Amino acid sequence: GASRGIGREGPSLFDGVDLHALAAQVSTPCHAYSANAIRERIAGLQSAFQGLDHRICYAVKANSNVAILQLMAHHGVGADIVSLGELNRALLAGIPAEHIVFSGVGKTTEEIASALAVGVWRFNVESLDELQLLQEVAQRHGVCARAAARINPDVDARTHEKISTGKSENKFGVSIDEARRWFANAGSMSNVLLDGLHAHIGSQILELEPFREALTRVEAFRRELVDAGHPIASVDIGGGLGVCYRKGVDHPIPAAEYAGLVRVVFAEFQGTLVLEPGRYLVAEAGILLTRVIRVKPGVDRSFLVVDAAMNDLLRPSLYEAWHEIVPLVGGDREPARYDVVGPVCETGDTFARGRAMARCEAGDLLSIGSTGAYGASMASTYNSRPLAAEVLLDDGRYAVIRRRQTMAEMIAGEQLPQVWNET
Ligand code: LLP
Repeated sequence: GASRGIGREGPSLFDGVDLHALAAQVSTPCHAYSANAIRERIAGLQSAFQGLDHRICYAVKANSNVAILQLMAHHGVGADIVSLGELNRALLAGIPAEHIVFSGVGKTTEEIASALAVGVWRFNVESLDELQLLQEVAQRHGVCARAAARINPDVDARTHEKISTGKSENKFGVSIDEARRWFANAGSMSNVLLDGLHAHIGSQILELEPFREALTRVEAFRRELVDAGHPIASVDIGGGLGVCYRKGVDHPIPAAEYAGLVRVVFAEFQGTLVLEPGRYLVAEAGILLTRVIRVKPGVDRSFLVVDAAMNDLLRPSLYEAWHEIVPLVGGDREPARYDVVGPVCETGDTFARGRAMARCEAGDLLSIGSTGAYGASMASTYNSRPLAAEVLLDDGRYAVIRRRQTMAEMIAGEQLPQVWNET
């Protein structure tokens, strides 16, 4: 019944907001983000890089809600985009085009033309074909495109294989040998100014060593280019800084240590350093609120069936990612162990297996931790489940920054065949 589970739990505050009241008002599942936690991350990174000529371009893919992007814009953070959709969002949020870098292996003619028309700062180019297309489109538009060559430094980021990008077998970037040829021929391009380097070796990186290896290779190549008469105005060191999903297990690199490495490696570089953090700025600032639908006893285990599912948070299903799950209940519950699962009809719709936590009952509210990055942005409507609401919390107040999708919105655009066309 509706009253089950409402009772003796104490207040659970996140950025000063009572999560029980919040869940009652916006209902579950719901993504909640702390504005103060995001501001702290921005400020922390900015102060670590203070004194260095740098620009932070937030990787929009991590959390692309326009309210989050507006928060970035307010703090002078630019954007790293990979599609026209992300470009639109960034501009809508007030991020100036000249603070936007465009990455990705599959930029189309249309995307390049649109990005040139609004005047994005630079293109991180990932193939010779793309470089030639950029020249062609820029010439047609009578403009000069600024470009950086994305280097694949062939280093192992020692993270999950699905989010490793800096090995030569990965689709990203080009070898230093290929990039060397690009620069040698750059003079023949009338409408592309190739004066930057870019490298991004992967995501959720928890060790400094892979960064050191990759950045050292990039910097050595930069010096070689400068000596060969190719000035380099910017070096984009990508994103990838890991965060804490599991207390006591994940030990993220402190921003100051990362910045310290960058200062040493690029001590002789006089241009602008670009950073593309995504996860680092938003992951730990987000939680996913979900309610227990029922506890289902199995043969040898108990299933906690919750109202969030893999369509709301894909990371556990896709990467076997570990997210903290905290029942927001009083301290008087006995310990228990559950497989925490969603209602979607796949075995992979599992948030945790055999997880120790307080005993739960139907109606209990749970908080799934560190979901601010690659949570809502990877959501789908699989099993025809509407997209969850998103709320921004700020010092005891909250604003709905995405209302729960309605059934009508979910099927908008679909229609029964009315006209049969011939091709
Ligand atoms: N720059 C480029 C070119 C990227 O491809 C990415 C992420 C970033 C920056 C930002 O990386 P971050 O700072 O967030 O690590 N869905 C996966 C993560 C995919 C990352 C894709 N590229 C996950 O949930 O773990």
